[in-house]
Amino acid sequence: MEEILKVVKIEKYYGSRTSLTKAIDDLSFEVERGEFSAIMGASGSGKTTLLNCISTIDKVTSGHIYVNGKDITKLKGEELNKFRREELGFIFQDFNLLDTLTAKENIALALSIQNVKPKEIEKKVKEISASLNIKDILDKYPYQLSGGQKQRVASARAVITNPKIVLADEPTGALDSKSAKMLLERFKYLNEKLNATILMVTHDAFTASFTKRVIFIKDGKLFKELERGEDSRSEFFNKIIDVVTLLGGDMNDAL
Ligand SMILES: Nc1ncnc2c1ncn2[C@@H]1O[C@H](COP(=O)(O)OP(=O)(O)O)[C@@H](O)[C@H]1O
Ligand SMILES: [Mg+2]
Repeated sequence: MEEILKVVKIEKYYGSRTSLTKAIDDLSFEVERGEFSAIMGASGSGKTTLLNCISTIDKVTSGHIYVNGKDITKLKGEELNKFRREELGFIFQDFNLLDTLTAKENIALALSIQNVKPKEIEKKVKEISASLNIKDILDKYPYQLSGGQKQRVASARAVITNPKIVLADEPTGALDSKSAKMLLERFKYLNEKLNATILMVTHDAFTASFTKRVIFIKDGKLFKELERGEDSRSEFFNKIIDVVTLLGGDMNDAL
């Protein structure tokens, strides 16, 4: 199999020389094309930092990140913009919707930037909003939406371009269990039918149990990896819980 993402010995420090935080500490792993994986870890373990480095929002202190064989830690200017625009779908922990645009305009934005024809945009927005059950709120502005609705709008925006790799930071964090399940089923569909590679950060074992592999991190380091293999979702869930218990600390809050 071909790896779409290769993280090689990355480190990320925050702060100044007098007060340094090591958010990521010598972390390496690979994700193959078409995988659906989760990153789990306690609060403060470096999950968001890792995702931000992969999405080029943040910069690693050292090490390399290859997407499709290209070292994205080295990208600049138009090449960097092209990578963000065409290869990546990103779902932020705090949604990052534009306040002055309606839900529909937020979702369509990624396609408008790519010069997709209005008729085609209309069709795609319709499709995706039906599958995420947000058809009735398309004309509302972010301030008029609940957390869960914003989460689904942000998800629609991230996946509407059929990106090669979807990065999602706690995508079910603000959702009730029914909406969470709907979003996860949508991810599963994207992964299985459209062959999208999905890397999702979560501290929730139920959410993680929808994936095929879970990478656990602790204090910015790789702690353990679990493969689903032939397990059912509930068997995989139980194995995830075992590792979560082993990890201990505030990870147990998620149970
Ligand atoms: N911008 C920042 N400046 C300073 N420290 C940060 C910054 N972002 C994250 N950190 C620190 O890095 C560590 C990892 O944070 P984060 O990646 O947000 O963890 P997680 O998403 O797993 O909760 C934490 O100790 C956090 O306080
Ligand atoms: Mg986080």
